[in-house]
Amino acid sequence: MAHRWTNDLTHDDVTPKSAYMNRRQIVAGMAGLGLATIAPKAQAAAETLDPTPFDVITQYNNFYEFGTRKEDPARYAGSLTTKPWSIKIDGMVDNPGDYALSDILSKMTIEERIYRFRCVEAWSMVVPWNGFELKDLLDLAGVQSGAKYVAFETLYRPEEMPGQRQPFLEWPYVEGLRLDEANHPLTLMATGIYGKPMPNQNGAPIRLVVPWKYGFKSIKSIVRITLTDKEPPTSWNKSIPSEYGFYSNVNPKVDHPRWSQASERPIGGGFFAKRIPTLMFNGYEKEVAGLYEGMDLRKNY
Ligand code: MTE
Repeated sequence: MAHRWTNDLTHDDVTPKSAYMNRRQIVAGMAGLGLATIAPKAQAAAETLDPTPFDVITQYNNFYEFGTRKEDPARYAGSLTTKPWSIKIDGMVDNPGDYALSDILSKMTIEERIYRFRCVEAWSMVVPWNGFELKDLLDLAGVQSGAKYVAFETLYRPEEMPGQRQPFLEWPYVEGLRLDEANHPLTLMATGIYGKPMPNQNGAPIRLVVPWKYGFKSIKSIVRITLTDKEPPTSWNKSIPSEYGFYSNVNPKVDHPRWSQASERPIGGGFFAKRIPTLMFNGYEKEVAGLYEGMDLRKNY
């Protein structure tokens, strides 16, 4: 299979934009993941973006389970055991249970999605994720008609996650989406980047990616998904409710109480790289604005 990336990417390896224009191959290196189906689907809007180098995506992380500094996850996440892995799916579903990740993957279509990724801290990356649509997993579980929200939970294993021995946040890390957000075709369960299995520091073995929301919604190392009819609690909202709401849609017009969200610093472009304007819904306005019609996005931040 075509594989345009090497294991040793540096900042100089960013692929020229033109090379991405027609690119739909799924990269090699997935054979060992038990992926039965590999097929391209409709590509998202971000196809022509230049990805951030692998080394940057994997060495500048937020994963408080391994510490609060950007370099902590790369340094300490190696201790995390990610095999075997299963996800408990419960709540308002027809088929609740513990789903082995290997079984899930054998039923899913893995594709590549190159997405803008905008952290609430006003930095950004462009990440070539591999994964499948969350909706396909929810369909497997059989969402019942009364369900309105999806709650997610990260692994709680303080022996392997030293940050969980500190009260940085209330553990385990939890997040949530409205069901229509969860079912949106842009919403991905990611199992890799750059065609490689997900590095531990990026949320191995499986994490959420919601590209039109601030990065903290994209919860890592997921072990539980619960369908519910009530808005679920979320870690950052519990921690600082005045700064982090449930929706957390990228919005350059609504500032964080302590800093502007109007622009962002692309990570990997060097210290003097120019800030770029932040786009409404992180550039996915055409795809997702309809989800929020009639809502006051200043109130529902
Ligand atoms: N998920 C868990 N379990 N713990 C975390 O600390 N940090 C969030 C999100 N998911 C976090 C998490 C934040 S603040 C961001 S910006 C992204 O993960 C960072 O993802 P990345 O390290 O792959 O860039």
